[in-house]
Amino acid sequence: MKPIAKDKYIPLKPIIHPWIEKLLADKDLLADTVKQQCSPVNIQSVTPFAENIAEYKRVFEQYELKHKIFFARKANKCLTFAKAAAAAGEGVDTASHKELQQCLEAGIPGDQLILTAAIKNIPLIELAVEEHVTIIIDNMDEYDSLDSIVLANETTAKISLRIGGFTLDGKTLPTRFGFPLDEAYKLITEQIKKHPFLRFSGLHFHLNGYAIDQRVAAIAQSIKLIDDLAAAGISCEHLDIGGGYLVNYLAHKKEWEAFHQELKQAVLGQRPAITYQNDPLGMVLIDGKLHGEPTVYPYYNELPKAVFLEKILSSEDVSYGQPIHELIKARNIELRIEPGRSLLDQAGITVARVVFRKNDTEGNLLVGLEMNRTQMKSSSADFLLDPIHITHQSTELQEPVDGYLVGGYCLEQEFLLKRKIQFATYPKIGDLIIFPNTAGYMMHFFESQAHQFALANNVFCTADLQITKHDGD
Ligand SMILES: Cc1ncc(COP(=O)(O)O)c(C=O)c1O
Repeated sequence: MKPIAKDKYIPLKPIIHPWIEKLLADKDLLADTVKQQCSPVNIQSVTPFAENIAEYKRVFEQYELKHKIFFARKANKCLTFAKAAAAAGEGVDTASHKELQQCLEAGIPGDQLILTAAIKNIPLIELAVEEHVTIIIDNMDEYDSLDSIVLANETTAKISLRIGGFTLDGKTLPTRFGFPLDEAYKLITEQIKKHPFLRFSGLHFHLNGYAIDQRVAAIAQSIKLIDDLAAAGISCEHLDIGGGYLVNYLAHKKEWEAFHQELKQAVLGQRPAITYQNDPLGMVLIDGKLHGEPTVYPYYNELPKAVFLEKILSSEDVSYGQPIHELIKARNIELRIEPGRSLLDQAGITVARVVFRKNDTEGNLLVGLEMNRTQMKSSSADFLLDPIHITHQSTELQEPVDGYLVGGYCLEQEFLLKRKIQFATYPKIGDLIIFPNTAGYMMHFFESQAHQFALANNVFCTADLQITKHDGD
């Protein structure tokens, strides 16, 4: 790769869906929306959501697999998306009492819902049983609670077991979730099979990370368990392989690679900083040597969404010597997935208003936005997409200016982005800053109301640019 000029700005151009391009072209509508809804406002669209569902379906259909997609609602709290998933004939994966109850109240039938909540208290299990929602059981205490509830009420419940502890290359994939495979086999064959009210329907797992070989190993080992159960006279209707499908946020691989190269050089003192106070974004500098890689989401990747699913299904498992899709089809199992982030790819933006410009003690330009860091945050060490600056100023006569975006919490660390941003013009009070592609996790997962700040409003944008309220959250 060619060396980059010493202080050159490294852009990270986001991919932008046509609905967002259309909205951004209407500066007055954007300004009015912020005026009415306050800053920041989350503007969303169900169009990309429906497109993303269709993309997954094409892959399942290509392999003629029985399938069902359960949208993982935890990735975005707006009920509008859950309703859109159900309207498309798919389902919703719920992770709390409120998530489940809202879906039921919205008229989504129990058989289109699953419950994967990490903590299931008695009222939550009771609600799921009453509404015939498949309950994904994670541990024996949960099982015992369910057992007591169905025995006391003499009602049946559909259960699926979460399994974990898969192995790859002789090592166990560590997890805090699920039953080891041998324990799952024992529980199903010795207790669930004989239970008067529990009906075993399938197996579930969700893996951390994005390694294809781990997914393939987990599916193959689940299939081995399914075969063992079949030999014991127990049929498994579905295998749910969870969520965790990549999203590609960035337009150019070159920019992504250049960013990593320049960040390392900056942290080593070989070029000016590109992050606030030369933040290494999770790398560690010891005695002049840099260790590790930035702990950031792989914002650029070439295996997004349905491509990732296709790669898993077409991979061959070594123990069976057959591609995964053939193993599943041969057993006539319904393959289930629980995508969250990837169904929300391109489905929302976060818009905030500029309220001040100032310099810090080191002369850095700080641009203050009327929002806080929890309103656009994920577990990644930074959000690595260029924000879009909307201004009514002419950009022709002005020089670009570099600076940092800061928010409303009182902490020194309240930087909305750690990365230095280049603005085409010096931002003016009232200008808007757009964070693209924030619907998956970024806008809701970490939002807090410290300082008594109100949570951001959520609105939806129709194809003809009507801004509508969403259906509760
Ligand atoms: C059980 C389960 N299913 C589905 C998901 C959704 O994952 P993603 O949004 O990465 O697709 C998660 C995310 O944490 C999860 O824990």
